[in-house]
Amino acid sequence: MVSNAFLEAHVGSWEVAFILLIVGYILFRIGKEKVGNIVHMFLRVMMVIVVVTGAWMLFKFHAGDVLYYVKGVLGLVVFGLMEMALGRARRQEASTGFFVGALALMVVVILIGYRVIM
Ligand code: HEM
Repeated sequence: MVSNAFLEAHVGSWEVAFILLIVGYILFRIGKEKVGNIVHMFLRVMMVIVVVTGAWMLFKFHAGDVLYYVKGVLGLVVFGLMEMALGRARRQEASTGFFVGALALMVVVILIGYRVIM
């Protein structure tokens, strides 16, 4: 039985990360770099919480379940795409592909998490 606190922290932090990605991306695209950087910092805190709670649950309760390893790796790729999207948006470089890619892959990870995709 997964500890609810870890699961709730895991779900809560990716939900907040989803919103912070969109807010941060818009702020950088409209040139609000200072507040964009603050949002980006909070997003990174959420990323750390997602990975720490995810890894804990993975090794504690799902160590033999390949699906959760795949989901964990895809989750890390999502965070990489988020970093690329925000970094390029801040520098006013082409970033839409990374942004859309991060959102789309995050939806896939969520569907794996809720076992819609097996
Ligand atoms: C973008 C990043 C991520 C998203 C959106 C995400 C999303 C989710 C969702 C929706 C669930 C199901 C929650 C529930 O049943 O109520 C879940 C569970 C889980 N996630 Fe993630 N996750 C992410 C990253 C990770 C990472 C990086 C790892 C591991 C290193 C991980 C490991 C797990 C594990 C082990 C569970 C199962 C918990 C259980 O037994 O119910 N997740 N995740």
